[in-house]
Amino acid sequence: MNALTQRYTVMPGGALKGRLRVPGDKSISHRAIMFGALAEGETEVEGFLDGADCLATLAAFRALGVQIETLGAGHVRVHGVGLHGLTPASGPIDLGNSGTAMRLMAGVLAGQAFASTLVGDASLSRRPMRRVTAPLAQMGARIDATPEGTPPLRIHGAETLRGIDYEMPMASAQVKSALLLAGLYAQGKTCVTEPAPTRDHTERMLAGFGYRVARDGARVCLNGGGRLSGGKVVVPADISSAAFFLVGASIAPGSELLLEHVGINPTRTGVIEILRRMRADIDVIEPREMSGEPVADLRVRYAPLQGIDIPEDLVPLAIDEFPALFIAAACAQGTTRLTGAAELRVKESDRIQAMADGLSAIGVAAEVQSDGIVIQGADAFGGGVIHSHGDHRIAMAFAMAGLRAEKQIEIVDCANVDTSFPGFVDKASAVGLGIGSSL
Ligand code: S3P
Repeated sequence: MNALTQRYTVMPGGALKGRLRVPGDKSISHRAIMFGALAEGETEVEGFLDGADCLATLAAFRALGVQIETLGAGHVRVHGVGLHGLTPASGPIDLGNSGTAMRLMAGVLAGQAFASTLVGDASLSRRPMRRVTAPLAQMGARIDATPEGTPPLRIHGAETLRGIDYEMPMASAQVKSALLLAGLYAQGKTCVTEPAPTRDHTERMLAGFGYRVARDGARVCLNGGGRLSGGKVVVPADISSAAFFLVGASIAPGSELLLEHVGINPTRTGVIEILRRMRADIDVIEPREMSGEPVADLRVRYAPLQGIDIPEDLVPLAIDEFPALFIAAACAQGTTRLTGAAELRVKESDRIQAMADGLSAIGVAAEVQSDGIVIQGADAFGGGVIHSHGDHRIAMAFAMAGLRAEKQIEIVDCANVDTSFPGFVDKASAVGLGIGSSL
């Protein structure tokens, strides 16, 4: 498929109705493969995200000598090799578009007795890696990157790692996870302190695999030299994928949608909190727990939204949902202001600039700031051509904007939607979005 030419055409108007289970959580799916591979015994994963990003992680561990069976849609069995059972890959490991795969793998591979090279696509090759290579170097790892601190990463391996006590300068679950993974191989204790709460799937899954992790407020620690034991992981539907439908149903009059079995880990539910503050109508139904992660069904109905100042403490808890939230802001009464979100500039695209450009293209006023954006809600807006910059979440956010547009929206460069949401066009069409895809 030609990444640049895949485009979406979204018809104006419509409503979202019915029920829908979006694909499995991306963060948890990556970790299920990684921990399953490093564990002793078998790990069976259900609800695995068969999207390009997690398949890159799966292929990476196969290249490192791990046997992984695909048993059907979203169902894999990982034959764990234990913490010291990986074998060198025969060449560079290609992690495609996935920042999570590259940063977490850097932590794993720093602890190995052999060298590895990690490469990625054009977007991943522009993303900052010093945030992981610098603290890993403090642990004793030797990792080369480009002079700009970007991939490819050449990880020398064969070093004795030592635990460190690291205060993260940014709220990043990827950095925290990379250091904890390296910490499994380190002598002594590895601790990471986060400036604000970030997703804690790594800590939860380590505990689920029988590894002791201690949390004291913002600080999480583990001792190296333990072992992981495999088991079963049931992956919930990804709240980051559900977010597009939470926004779509909130902005389209007449909508009522039930999103099934969505992960509602409190480190991920900023999108619900922010939408509720904007007066969205969202119910959390039958909260339950699966594989150490909270899960629920979410019912969302159309409601007139109100612009807000987004509290900065909610930013890390909704970090991947801002493209969708900006579309909610475009449809709200009044102004929405986001600050403290400079991290959005180093995601799969510069999401502040890409969203501002797209909003302007359809006639919504958006003012870019260094660490955020100010969006003026509009009663109505037009159509236009949007460039997704190869960013899956920009493409899906503007697909939802079609529900309130007065003219057709065309979105170009959409192939990367497959990184997190394979089947998006069919699933969105089935609940009422007038979307088609062409090459
Ligand atoms: C992720 C952490 C977040 C998030 C990314 C997935 C993870 O990145 O944006 O999509 O699985 O740990 P940062 O750690 O860079 O904030």
